Amino acid sequence: MKSIVVGNWKMNPATMREAKTLFEATRKAAERAKNVNLIVAPPAIFLRELKQRYKGSRISFALQNAHFEMGGAYTGEISLAQGDDSGASHVIIGHAERRGMGETDNDIRKKVAAALALKMTPILCVGEKERTQNAEHFKLVREQLQAGFADVPVSQVGRVIVTYEPLWTIGKEKTMSPRDMHEMAIFIRKTVVDLRGEGGMKVKILYGGSVDGTNAGAMLTQGDVCGFLVGRASSNALQLSALLQAIENAS
Ligand code: PGA
Repeated sequence: MKSIVVGNWKMNPATMREAKTLFEATRKAAERAKNVNLIVAPPAIFLRELKQRYKGSRISFALQNAHFEMGGAYTGEISLAQGDDSGASHVIIGHAERRGMGETDNDIRKKVAAALALKMTPILCVGEKERTQNAEHFKLVREQLQAGFADVPVSQVGRVIVTYEPLWTIGKEKTMSPRDMHEMAIFIRKTVVDLRGEGGMKVKILYGGSVDGTNAGAMLTQGDVCGFLVGRASSNALQLSALLQAIENAS
């Protein structure tokens, strides 16, 4: 099975011109990576133009966030319908940086269901801010999964991609160990099956947080994940190539 890499550009780069340059490098790296399905999540304002210029089929596009309502008086927000119309097939929901800005489990519950209703693929992010002695992170991740999947029709549970992305590994020098990720992947799958039935076995699980070419191979082979959500290494052409190469070597 091909690995999934979600490239989260966050609020970068500053101009459309730079976005085109970065996308061109991304496209070339993706052509060489036969075992990777790449999903690029640029700032929404660049998405339509990048999508229109792209003629290949290796790369899909994602929103980094969207509102759950399809329209209305929500100044500054973007709807899933607008993202869908611009060419996004996926949407990142509940990223730790957005939760940090006040997004609640209740918002996330509605966004996941709204994305599925539009036939978009939700990439649901879960993960704790920090680890404490008494393993409270399992309880928290369970709560986040419970909310995220609450309104998902049973027949569509397997369409959700879950990314485990603990805040303490995002934008840092180190990732968590593949062994710890393996344990978390088992926990996530078991929890979704407990909550929503057998469809949970089909849920794809990604890891996110300081992934690059040096650590991706071990995480892929030992971490029980089928890919990654990547920040910094996705908006740097050299690092992206190294990362995709590492995945090719491990596949
Ligand atoms: P990072 O970001 O790869 O720079 O740690 C990951 C993310 O927040 O998506």
